[in-house]
Amino acid sequence: MARLTISNLDKRFGAFDILKDVNLEIPSGEFVVFVGPSGCGKSTLLRCISGLEAVSGGTLSIDGVDVTKVPPSQRGIAMVFQSYALYPHMSVFDNMAYALKIQKLGKAEIEAKVRDAARKLQLDLLLDRLPRQLSGGQRQRVAIGRAIVRDPKVFLFDEPLSNLDAALRVQTRLEIAALKQSLPGTTMIYVTHDQVEAMTLADRIVVLNAGRVEQVGTPLELYERPGSVFVAGFIGSPKMNLLAGAEAAKFGAATIGVRPEHLAFGQPGEGWAGTVMRTEHLGSESYVYVDVGSDEPMIVRTPGTAAFAQGDAVALTADEGAILRFDAGGSRLA
Ligand SMILES: Nc1ncnc2c1ncn2[C@@H]1O[C@H](COP(=O)(O)OP(=O)(O)O)[C@@H](O)[C@H]1O
Ligand SMILES: [Mg+2]
Repeated sequence: MARLTISNLDKRFGAFDILKDVNLEIPSGEFVVFVGPSGCGKSTLLRCISGLEAVSGGTLSIDGVDVTKVPPSQRGIAMVFQSYALYPHMSVFDNMAYALKIQKLGKAEIEAKVRDAARKLQLDLLLDRLPRQLSGGQRQRVAIGRAIVRDPKVFLFDEPLSNLDAALRVQTRLEIAALKQSLPGTTMIYVTHDQVEAMTLADRIVVLNAGRVEQVGTPLELYERPGSVFVAGFIGSPKMNLLAGAEAAKFGAATIGVRPEHLAFGQPGEGWAGTVMRTEHLGSESYVYVDVGSDEPMIVRTPGTAAFAQGDAVALTADEGAILRFDAGGSRLA
């Protein structure tokens, strides 16, 4: 069991404030996903949690015990990176057993731990292979297995699937979901820039913005009730449509937002009048980009194959209830 408490955490590199007053309480066994734009401090926060990076202020505790000054190897935390960094000349078994041999565990115990982890990760039949004889997804599973055998209380993943091609990403994502279920007491923190990974794996998502926690919530809370324009624009793909100025003022807001799936094509004269700029066909659905005179085109997500040509005049409507309103500071209005 491992409850992680991050209190008033600051991290500076020279004159730069990278993390600013981060406060998070992560209950034991929770799967938390950190998302945010590139450079917002996700990796730095993971490295501070692991102890690879010293904090500049604040505290970290595990189950109420302050670990801020505890060396990385004694925190009970394991980290898996984007690059798997396996030992190329060692078999899968030996890669997974390495840390346990260093700890001087007995042969039978090492064997049992490695076989148990291999079974959880469907690596049982690959234990004799060398890393170069594995696919990228299999290699990443070995890297995860190498961490699991150490029975970490907290598991940190920094964009572990971003080197994999699309099909392997989906497969490995499902394996990580299964792994989470097989390790119910292990707290997991996972960094990704992939919307689907964040939405499907997370019990809760933490959105970071320039080194601060912008919002914490379940995936659906963040999707349906983003607290700010920033979260509204960051969670969801394609992005939420955001309109400012006169269009927003009509709704008593500085900015309004409407998701692409909540827009529909209406009769001429209804809603927003616009011109079709382009259509992307994804097979099961289409994204229609419509110029309504705002800074960016509005995106309409519509099922099936939308039959529009560039330059078609269209009218976009949205249910009143699907329009989110934000004030001038970017906070959502009730
Ligand atoms: N060792 C370092 N020295 C100085 N600046 C760093 C160091 N590591 C990261 N940074 C800076 O901290 C910021 C956050 O980086 P990082 O945590 O890697 O972001 P993310 O993982 O969200 O993309 C970036 O501006 C980066 O340049
Ligand atoms: Mg990073």
